[in-house]
Amino acid sequence: MCYYYYSAFILFLFLTRTVPTFTAPDHFLKPLKSPKPEVQEFFELTNPLPSDHLTPSCSVTVIHHSYANTVNSPPFSKRYSPPSDCPPPWPRVVLELRVASSGEQYDRIAAIWLDGAEILRTSTAEPTESGIFWRVRKDITRYSSLLSKSRINATMMLENVVNDIYTGVYHVHVSFLFYKENVIPQDVGIPSIISPNKNNYNLGTTDMGLFQTPSDLIIPICDNGQRGHWFRVESESDVHMKKVRFPKNTLQVVLELYASFHGNDEFWYSNPPNSYIRLNNLTTERGNGAYREVFVTIDGKFVGSEVVFPVVFTGGINPLFWEPVVAIGDFKLPSYDLDLTPLLGWLLDGKSHEIRVGVDDAISFWLVNANLHIWLDHGTSRVEAKSIVYNSPALTIERQEAFRLLDGSFRIKAKRKSEFAGWVKSKAGNFTTIVSQEFRVTNLIRFYSNGTYKVVKQRVKAKRDSRIRADSGNLIGRAVTRRRYPLTVITSTVPLAHKADEYLLVTNVSHALNERRINGNYKRIVYNRQDSEGWMKVRDHSVLSGEATTWQRYNFRDEFGCYSRTVLAFNGKLIGDNTTFSCAAST
Ligand SMILES: *[C@@H]1O[C@H](CO)[C@@H](O)[C@H](O)[C@H]1NC(C)=O
Ligand SMILES: *[C@@H]1O[C@H](CO)[C@@H](O)[C@H](O)[C@H]1NC(C)=O
Ligand SMILES: *[C@@H]1O[C@H](CO)[C@@H](O)[C@H](O)[C@H]1NC(C)=O
Ligand SMILES: *[C@@H]1O[C@H](CO)[C@@H](O)[C@H](O)[C@H]1NC(C)=O
Ligand SMILES: *[C@@H]1O[C@H](CO)[C@@H](O)[C@H](O)[C@H]1NC(C)=O
Ligand SMILES: *[C@@H]1O[C@H](CO)[C@@H](O)[C@H](O)[C@H]1NC(C)=O
Repeated sequence: MCYYYYSAFILFLFLTRTVPTFTAPDHFLKPLKSPKPEVQEFFELTNPLPSDHLTPSCSVTVIHHSYANTVNSPPFSKRYSPPSDCPPPWPRVVLELRVASSGEQYDRIAAIWLDGAEILRTSTAEPTESGIFWRVRKDITRYSSLLSKSRINATMMLENVVNDIYTGVYHVHVSFLFYKENVIPQDVGIPSIISPNKNNYNLGTTDMGLFQTPSDLIIPICDNGQRGHWFRVESESDVHMKKVRFPKNTLQVVLELYASFHGNDEFWYSNPPNSYIRLNNLTTERGNGAYREVFVTIDGKFVGSEVVFPVVFTGGINPLFWEPVVAIGDFKLPSYDLDLTPLLGWLLDGKSHEIRVGVDDAISFWLVNANLHIWLDHGTSRVEAKSIVYNSPALTIERQEAFRLLDGSFRIKAKRKSEFAGWVKSKAGNFTTIVSQEFRVTNLIRFYSNGTYKVVKQRVKAKRDSRIRADSGNLIGRAVTRRRYPLTVITSTVPLAHKADEYLLVTNVSHALNERRINGNYKRIVYNRQDSEGWMKVRDHSVLSGEATTWQRYNFRDEFGCYSRTVLAFNGKLIGDNTTFSCAAST
């Protein structure tokens, strides 16, 4: 993301250094001229929603706004009330975002909040002279408790800059689609204390996260909203806090985390350590090494963390790679669910608790906020709860560095594993929840050829496991999510002899977001990988010319069926696009 106030500084960097590989990857503006003369549709590969083939029972326009020069101004808000012609309950609710833009513009980050709780983090594609548009659909059924509230604020922030140079205005339309028809396949099952009924386990695909019913209450852990409801994290010590009093009849609680990274941390996974920058007298501020971990504490105690998926925004690395198919996660950034149910033993004392979110090793800046999803026991005003296991050893991290002048290598190996357990006794029974979370990260950065050739390799493996046991000791629910995010970025910088201010960047990027989720009897596998290669001629932050190929494979499989799509894009045009619903074809 490029923010106005950074431009001058970055321009200075490029004028003083002709071979700036140590700052690569970077973000760029693609050429204004479109590869196609007509308006072009951009998209992100994802599986169709089960409701896509149905007509919604009703829909409401939530936001209709043009985002021009919005930097440093408050976000756009509008009153929201549920549609009077189709009152809750709704088996399914879908958010539809439509965006159109033309002109010169950087990619921008955006988010939508309902009553301060985030429901979508998204970023924009860089437009062209003849114009682009896209559409994003997201299942937002899990936010039903907010969707049924009247006269609350629907807020959207999209911090854009429009002036003589950057002319692209983003025209945004957000609507909610309500489905009264029971959409099959249904909700993802368990573990859920609310209906520990075996028949409910065998359910289907939605974005409900771990739980089969939407929560009763959502408490945002967010900022007051003068510049959007996200917390702006400028450094490791910039930890934000909100006090929360939990209802005494809370049965289950899940914290949903949203995070994105910008400015000097947009490419955090490729940042060299400060020693490299200092000893080479470099002026870049993109340092602090390549490890970042978003963490959550309650009353000062660690309760969970996430090494987030490294989204490459559409101006990132080589913007020609991300048209018309954008990079994984650009339009629908993932959020992360932390099951905090085992901790209810110390949260249900009626006192307020301090929930903090921050980013280890962060430099400016991250946009982070969270939602607490709370399920209540409606039959009683208080439940009994006790936390019995709190096992949270410190992060294990090893860092190695070896370099001489601009060449060398930097390695990081990190892992963390924690386990929490606790019981909650309610009208439904006495259930013990055991949650374990673990991840391993390796990161390697290598510079060759006097720093003009850079290789970044990162591997993230994460596993979350939630189990619920009844009083009898029987396992009545289990959800396991495994994610892997491999990323490789290779950048070679070639100076142009005749032009001091222009250079070539030859780049390869491979990344994937692979997920296996098991919820009771329900299993689903998503395999999503992009491989890109190409080159571009660059002056400052502008791409003058280039060539780019992106190949993407998206495979989705659960017991209701399969979906796979393979696309090939070359120089901004789709030259291959195969879709199949056959399970034989997917891996
Ligand atoms: C809703 O947004 C408006 C600004 O558009 C603001 O004045 C008001 O305080 C907000 N209300 C709430 C409840 O946040
Ligand atoms: C960095 O600057 C210091 C002081 O000017 C100088 O002694 C040193 O040689 C420089 N290092 C490099 C790698 O240029
Ligand atoms: C709930 O179950 C746990 C584990 O079986 C047990 O230790 C605890 O005493 C039970 N609590 C109540 C109130 O029965
Ligand atoms: C290595 O790169 C630095 C900075 O770009 C430059 O000053 C130096 O002359 C280069 N050395 C060689 C051997 O090319
Ligand atoms: C990028 O990948 C291609 C094909 O896999 C390879 O030929 C090329 O050398 C790679 N480029 C770089 C800069 O490593
Ligand atoms: C689509 O299928 C055709 C025929 O099987 C194949 O030749 C082509 O390479 C495929 N394209 C992509 C992008 O996979």
